[in-house]
Amino acid sequence: MRSRNTGLILPCRAPSEEQVQRLGYVNPDTSAVPGRNRRRWDVVAACAHRNLRCEPGQKDGRQVQSGAGDAHPGAGGASAVGESGVPTSLFAVSDLHVAYEENRRIADALVPESDDDWLLVAGDVGEKFADIEAVLRGLRDRFHRVVWAPGNHELWTHPGDPVRLRGVARYDALVRMCRDLGVLTPEDDYPVWPGPDGPVVVAPLFPLYDYSFRVAGAATKEQSLELAYAAGVVCTDESLLHPDPYPNRESWCWARVAATETRLAAIDPALPTVLVSHWPLVRQPTDVLWYPEFAQWCGTELTADWHTRFRAVAAVYGHLHIPRSTTYDGVPFEEVSLGYPREWKQRPDSPAPMRRILGGPR
Ligand SMILES: [Fe+2]
Ligand SMILES: [Fe+2]
Repeated sequence: MRSRNTGLILPCRAPSEEQVQRLGYVNPDTSAVPGRNRRRWDVVAACAHRNLRCEPGQKDGRQVQSGAGDAHPGAGGASAVGESGVPTSLFAVSDLHVAYEENRRIADALVPESDDDWLLVAGDVGEKFADIEAVLRGLRDRFHRVVWAPGNHELWTHPGDPVRLRGVARYDALVRMCRDLGVLTPEDDYPVWPGPDGPVVVAPLFPLYDYSFRVAGAATKEQSLELAYAAGVVCTDESLLHPDPYPNRESWCWARVAATETRLAAIDPALPTVLVSHWPLVRQPTDVLWYPEFAQWCGTELTADWHTRFRAVAAVYGHLHIPRSTTYDGVPFEEVSLGYPREWKQRPDSPAPMRRILGGPR
């Protein structure tokens, strides 16, 4: 039975334990210390394209038809083979949430199939700067190329993180850290993936959200937020994701969207793209959220046509913790999240966090 808070919830309030359990929040006060008891797993996750899946994050446990079927998006091109003799792949993962020791072990066990495989990391590696750096460094050591787009958790100013930077300053520091590691970010030139199904421009994006995925019946952000607070469904971003120096998160979002549109429009029109964003570019994936109030923290209507305007052969996202494949306007959308242990342990084939987006065995 869904409980509702009728009293005022202050923006600085941390989510209740019940909210943590129901919604998959990381409670900043109780986040686990990353595990140091790591071991390398010998297996790499096979392609996790799925047809009919029942995911715990979906309302009514409803099965969702994968629009992509069993076929890999963009399949049909020539097969490029890496130095190891294995066809090259473009993999993606998100929401590793490595503050959980089990998740950290999974992240540390991610390995390529081919020497030339790339990995797209679509945000929510973790909350603490040192954890994010350590995980990305390890991935960069193992994969030919790593491309990162920020999630909301990386942008939090977590009370347990000695890095106290807020908002844009924190994002800029994350970008500098990635550049030092050799990990590509939304601020770098978009790389071209040359493998099978290529060449394809890989565009990591940071659009954030602007509360335009409002609750049904709400005409404004304020009304939508009011309904969310009344329902007790409040994203921790409200207290930890600071927009400084912007006055609010939607202003930061609008600036990001405007700048990103300009860059996407400048891509060679002869080339297709893979768009990588923590938040889904379209609203439809949020339709299966158990708590629809959460959608307002999941994206912006301003990106609704980017997958068609910018020739996407795949749109990679996470954040929802509902891993699945769907198709919108003929474009495969791949939700590639691992999620929290309590979520992935309920899935029949978990952990299988890495999803093949392009390339690989024919
Ligand atoms: Fe997440
Ligand atoms: Fe997220």
